[in-house]
Amino acid sequence: MNYKSLIAKTLMPYVNLSEAEIAALLENPPKADLGDSAFPCFNLAKIQHKSPVVIAQELAASVTANLPDYLQTVKSTGPYVNFFYNQAYFISENIKEINTAAAHYGQNDTGKGQTVLLEYSSPNIAKPFHVGHAFTTILGASLARLYESQGYKVVRLNHLGDYGTQFGKLIVAYEKWGDEAALQKDPINELLRIYVKFHQEAKKDPSLETEARSKFKNLEDGKEYETKLWQRFKDLSLVEFNRIYRRLHVDFDCWNGESFYSNLIPDVVEDLRSKHLLEESEGAQVVRLDEENLPPCLVLKSDGTTIYASRDLAAIMYRYKRWHFAKNIYVVGIPQALHFKQVFAVLKKAGYDFADNCVHVGFGLVKFPDAKFSTREGKVVLLEDLLNEAVNKTAEIIRANNAERQQEMSEAEIAQTAEKIGVSAIMYIFQKSGRERDIVFDWQEILSFEGDSGPYLQYTYSRAQSILHKAYNVPTIEPLPATDTAAAAAINAVAVQDLNLHESTYALVKELAKYGEALTLAVKQNEPFVVTRCLNSICRAFNRFYTNTPILKAADAEKRVLLAVCRATVQVLANGMQMLGMDTVDRM
Ligand code: ARG
Repeated sequence: MNYKSLIAKTLMPYVNLSEAEIAALLENPPKADLGDSAFPCFNLAKIQHKSPVVIAQELAASVTANLPDYLQTVKSTGPYVNFFYNQAYFISENIKEINTAAAHYGQNDTGKGQTVLLEYSSPNIAKPFHVGHAFTTILGASLARLYESQGYKVVRLNHLGDYGTQFGKLIVAYEKWGDEAALQKDPINELLRIYVKFHQEAKKDPSLETEARSKFKNLEDGKEYETKLWQRFKDLSLVEFNRIYRRLHVDFDCWNGESFYSNLIPDVVEDLRSKHLLEESEGAQVVRLDEENLPPCLVLKSDGTTIYASRDLAAIMYRYKRWHFAKNIYVVGIPQALHFKQVFAVLKKAGYDFADNCVHVGFGLVKFPDAKFSTREGKVVLLEDLLNEAVNKTAEIIRANNAERQQEMSEAEIAQTAEKIGVSAIMYIFQKSGRERDIVFDWQEILSFEGDSGPYLQYTYSRAQSILHKAYNVPTIEPLPATDTAAAAAINAVAVQDLNLHESTYALVKELAKYGEALTLAVKQNEPFVVTRCLNSICRAFNRFYTNTPILKAADAEKRVLLAVCRATVQVLANGMQMLGMDTVDRM
């Protein structure tokens, strides 16, 4: 139910504003005694040259004289018109809508016909998948689903870091110090080891650098030997990356990495040259961006090899030709903000207006006070280690709870449940606050079963599930009967009207009803945390409702309504968790 639009329609006959204009003016009152929604009359006052207080009184009177079903009362307070919803109507209409739309609840099709490209994850071949990559992977995958929820066609891109001078170094290092057995067993660590060794040795013997440059040049020229080795490093790395993606349920439609775009650079260079944008600077080719107040963008190095920025230029041109994107979004850390500004500015200078539809969605740093995951001494924290730690710690907690409950769960179920809860706990922490904020890793907070955490979400979900299962006399691990959904969707205002429901019921449904708007706002701001915050409020409201309402002991008529509310809570939490990439568990 879109109450803003309902109110707008109610007010339209009395004011000279469009539905959208009215809806945009509506506010959420700060206090319950000011109703559920408020319309400020200042704008009208200016147009009508009348006091806003008088306008508010007149509007309240007009609406009251012709009160629609969805409203309980309307009154004016100073320059505001305050709308009080009919709670029985609000509860029944929203619960019915949620339970009917089910898995689609909250979605809309405003983006229909438009394609959004989402580039995320983009790890570097032969390098560890660290927490920074976890951040982009988790955020990006959620944004992809969120855009889809608004009807956009989404293309998921993994811009693999599979090119650059480092591959010349790696080839030299492999020839000199590579250990084949180690490479088979633990490829990324072995590649990392020889890469580090290269840098140590190159300090003593600078000719290694020259050798590496020539290997990279051979790779760029498509020489067979170098290409084969490079392909091998890439295949080995992808095996590891895919293991992580599977665990996070992340996938991509296109895996074109930097190497793919490297081949397209000559056209880009030609284009820039013909538009007189290329200038020589210390032997290299650059595009000056003085007017944009940016440092020049390096396009070709003095030896003619390409660099990161030129590969991005080529990538955007390719993507536009192939997909005609409405938006091309990069989920990449804030430190690369300047890089993207330069790349977008070069395109704009070259006359490509689609540069305006390229967006860098940045995110903050991840910090580890925990000594075990210290990032000092240049060590990186691996996502896999974090996931394992979260899962192991969760398993311990479940095992302890399980012992208290006479071993309901088998070891296999504990392991499965811990995987889901542990992984979603990590996903939660990356989507808990605005993405530009740094994250401080605090295990206690991450794994807490109450408060603002993944496990709290899971806990609330499974609690609501267990009420439903008890009511229908079905074990928690089995699906609910179809009668549950049918009953949940059959609720109506008359059935709710005469019940003396605790106010926490209405409060809960109000939170549930905000879910659709949260999805829209999350997309508008490219901020999945808007959804996280909405789900957390639902959990708090549900637990208050649960504490105040003996659902299973209620009389039949009331129980039907309360179970429908439970069912709707389960649905919205499931939908929201799916958006955020989290699996749900039915018991924990
Ligand atoms: N591979 C890069 C890194 O790990 C991120 C790539 C970002 N995407 C891009 N189109 N430049 O830092």
